[in-house]
Amino acid sequence: MNLRHSLTLMVFAFGVTIFPSAALLADSAPDGKTLFHTHCSVCHGQEGTGEDPQWLNGGWREDGTRIAPALNGTAHAWHHEPQLLYSYVKDGSIDTTSPMPSFGDQLTDEQIWSVIRYIQSLWPEKIRKIYEERFPGGLGEQD
Ligand code: HEC
Repeated sequence: MNLRHSLTLMVFAFGVTIFPSAALLADSAPDGKTLFHTHCSVCHGQEGTGEDPQWLNGGWREDGTRIAPALNGTAHAWHHEPQLLYSYVKDGSIDTTSPMPSFGDQLTDEQIWSVIRYIQSLWPEKIRKIYEERFPGGLGEQD
């Protein structure tokens, strides 16, 4: 076997061992965007734009049911500290009449944080900056 052949073989061997593990990693890493679209966008809108553009902060319909607020930085959610956002998702709304469910038995802590990171990624740069000043490390880069 000449050098070129053995090099080709080596590249082939590496390719076979590296690619499946990279694919596995991508599969097991929680993807906040996918989780958001699976669990949250039905109420909070695709990209967190809220259930009703007239009611970005949420509110009540005439029939007394709640409207889900925007989470993308155009409403109130970004005023909450990270831990509160986390418990909102894990335990649901403190308002027991709210349709905002608890996800504690469906999502792992890691998945909840990755949904929160996704929501935060939708916030405009200006808001992200204010948030980071108010809650140092609150955007998760230092996690
Ligand atoms: C069945 C509808 C529904 C689903 C599904 C839902 N929510 Fe909500 N959510 C609401 C409503 C309505 C409110 C506002 C009322 C309240 O605070 O209880 C809310 C409030 C929130 C708030 C607080 C916002 C603020 O401005 O204070 C956060 C954060 C939030 N939801 C995140 C999520 C995430 C993340 C998911 C998915 C994992 C999700 N929600 C799924 C209906 C929903």
